[in-house]
Amino acid sequence: MRMDNDIEKILFTSEDIKTAVQKLGQKLTKDYQDKNPVVVGILRGAAPFMIDLVRAMDCYLEIDFIDVSSYGDATESSGAVTILKDIDSDVTGRHVLLVEDIVDTGRTLEKLLELFSGRGAASVKVCSLLDKPERRIANVTADYVGLSVPNEFVVGYGLDFRQQYRNLPYIGVLKPEIYQD
Ligand code: IMP
Repeated sequence: MRMDNDIEKILFTSEDIKTAVQKLGQKLTKDYQDKNPVVVGILRGAAPFMIDLVRAMDCYLEIDFIDVSSYGDATESSGAVTILKDIDSDVTGRHVLLVEDIVDTGRTLEKLLELFSGRGAASVKVCSLLDKPERRIANVTADYVGLSVPNEFVVGYGLDFRQQYRNLPYIGVLKPEIYQD
């Protein structure tokens, strides 16, 4: 059974995503020129975006990853954020750019901003591919946003439902019968 059959509608094609990533890359190239940032991808959802984004940035940078769990297998944020794998870099005095797949309630980001500011970073900014502003609970905003999404559960290009669909090249909405089971 093909994954495409589970998708009700496509919100962003791979071309739309490519255009958004290139735009972000150009902006970040300007803003981080001569800053040698530590670009931190938030696993696992941001992995495909992170890999494309850093290749769209033409400046010196380092990459690292952090793995946090905020969801389990549900479609609602639990509010509790646990660090499953920390970064390896020392960020003291460094410019940190956090790379997220989506800002939903904002709780994950709130915790990560607290964490990195507490580690003495020179600056901590956030680049998120998607933003779902209608669902925001925490008072946080991403500094760089690729695309805005309506209040629907989306999958693809890193975003999952029960760990599936991350490898879809586009971003779409699941058919309700898939997540209402
Ligand atoms: P927040 O803490 O509610 O902002 O949630 C952040 C995390 O929840 C994201 O990094 C995603 O992994 C996950 N998430 C939020 N909304 C969606 C969605 O529509 N589809 C898939 N994952 C989502």
